[in-house]
Amino acid sequence: MRTSLWLWALVAVCAADSFRDRAVSIMEETPVVDGHNDLPWQLLKLFNNQLRGERANLTVLTGTHTNIPKLRAGFVGGQFWSAYVPCDTQNKDAVKRTLEQMDVIHRMCQLYPETFQCVTSSAGVRKAFQEGKVASMIGVEGGHSIDSSLGVLRTLYHLGMRYLTLTHNCNTPWADNWLVDRGSDEARSHGLSPFGQQVVKEMNRLGVMIDLAHVSVATMKAALQLSKAPVIFSHSSAYSLCDSRRNVPDDVLQLVKSTHSLVMVNFYNDFVSCKEEATLSQVANHLDHIKKVAGAESVGLGGDFDGVERLPVGLEDVSKYPDLIAELLRRNWTETEVRGVLSENLLRVFLRVEEVSSPQQAPDDEPIPLDQLDGSCRTQYGYSAAPGLHLQPGALLTSLATLIFCLSLL
Ligand SMILES: *[C@@H]1O[C@H](CO)[C@@H](O)[C@H](O)[C@H]1NC(C)=O
Ligand SMILES: *[C@@H]1O[C@H](CO)[C@@H](O)[C@H](O)[C@H]1NC(C)=O
Ligand SMILES: [Zn+2]
Repeated sequence: MRTSLWLWALVAVCAADSFRDRAVSIMEETPVVDGHNDLPWQLLKLFNNQLRGERANLTVLTGTHTNIPKLRAGFVGGQFWSAYVPCDTQNKDAVKRTLEQMDVIHRMCQLYPETFQCVTSSAGVRKAFQEGKVASMIGVEGGHSIDSSLGVLRTLYHLGMRYLTLTHNCNTPWADNWLVDRGSDEARSHGLSPFGQQVVKEMNRLGVMIDLAHVSVATMKAALQLSKAPVIFSHSSAYSLCDSRRNVPDDVLQLVKSTHSLVMVNFYNDFVSCKEEATLSQVANHLDHIKKVAGAESVGLGGDFDGVERLPVGLEDVSKYPDLIAELLRRNWTETEVRGVLSENLLRVFLRVEEVSSPQQAPDDEPIPLDQLDGSCRTQYGYSAAPGLHLQPGALLTSLATLIFCLSLL
């Protein structure tokens, strides 16, 4: 009796180890591509984006969820670094501040070329895998970063942006955010305004992934229906397991399934368990649920490391991904499904986004007259002087109102 008990314990321990070993051997070939990491925001807060100081050295950086040894231990082979600027920059210096966050990501790649390789295509990600580098991509978190301008959108694309989250925690003049569904913000576009639809179409044309983390359910549905390419949720979990409005409800998961889109699961305790505490196993429950409703091809990882203050026991930093993959193997996920979660699902979406795009083509002219964009603090010279355009009394009033609004921001 006693011997057989010992034997069982031994089997259990060995099995536990073998799941992690299997996870590691899969990840050596197919590393993680994570959808959202806020290290650039930490670099701004902690070091004012000065990367050459001793404490800012990413090989020894402490007190963050992310540094180079942890990325290596976690088999992270690709990362969308977040170029995030807070909502209070909207209609102020959002564009400049976004450019500065994109710049700090480029400088990370230049300062640590042994580790980071800045890439802008799905082929670039696979090439970085082969060279043992962390493929580094830019996700811009919040539509306020384009300041209601397709010209800015296009320029951010040229600077390397490969996803744009349509909103952060605030409405833009053209898309609504999740706080609307919570009742703590007012619906404005009820999905996407006509200009918001143009933004989505232009993102399709350029080959920028549409990210629906942080948007309202109406905006999720509008974008899922309009986009010619699959979309992503770069860091969102399942609403039916934790009813935060930041999470994705089941009816939207159905649309994710039918469009071959992707939900990259967020590890933030408050979105995982709706409590201050959470566990790795509860994160795996979210992966299981999204797989059940939308299929394993729609599941990915978007840990939100360095953007949140509470993380599950067992997923404390970016070195812990292999433990989560071991848990999926323990739950009988097949090797193909696991490789999908790790990076193949994201690479499929990215490739499809590239296939429907035609970034070389000259774009159409701006479809919505610039002076009809509310919330835009644009100085009018140049535009109003264009031939054949005369300021109407109504437009004059709008301009006056905009001027007063902009002055009130000073
Ligand atoms: C970071 O520290 C390592 C180890 O001390 C050193 O080799 C490397 O040159 C430093 N990198 C930068 C960019 O300061
Ligand atoms: C996994 O599969 C094995 C063998 O088919 C089965 O015994 C076990 O209950 C399954 N585990 C889970 C968590 O589904
Ligand atoms: Zn976020």
